[in-house]
Amino acid sequence: MNISIGNDHAGTDYKFKIVEYLKSKNIEVTNHGTNTDSSVDYPDFVHPVAKDVESQKSTYGILICGTANGVAMTANKYSSIRAGICWTNEIVSLIRQHNNANILCIPARFTEIEEVLEMIDTFLNTEFEGGRHQNRINKIQIC
Ligand code: RB5
Repeated sequence: MNISIGNDHAGTDYKFKIVEYLKSKNIEVTNHGTNTDSSVDYPDFVHPVAKDVESQKSTYGILICGTANGVAMTANKYSSIRAGICWTNEIVSLIRQHNNANILCIPARFTEIEEVLEMIDTFLNTEFEGGRHQNRINKIQIC
């Protein structure tokens, strides 16, 4: 499994903790995020992650910014990307089970890192349920 990760300045601290956590589990990580707290434009750090997941170079993506909205809006422009914003573990389960999300978007300014690490475990270990949910995913595309 390879995880592609991206973040803006609001997510740098969490990014380092998440990368360390994933590496401790022998999961390969590609870091496309900024590595400092200096202000940047989040789309610049989202496009490479979305492209990695779309091209199947990476199994999943993780994106972090202040609210998770900017990164999710950017990633969801890609037709094969289903990026979900999560702030609880239960929502993470549901974006995998029901939405087959392939990118997890984390609002760094509204979560605690301990919970985020649990959320990442859930994201990586929860299966898509298929069935009626696949029909719904098939209807997401507008063109
Ligand atoms: C940066 O201040 C903030 O706007 C950004 O991290 C994010 O929340 C945007 O959606």
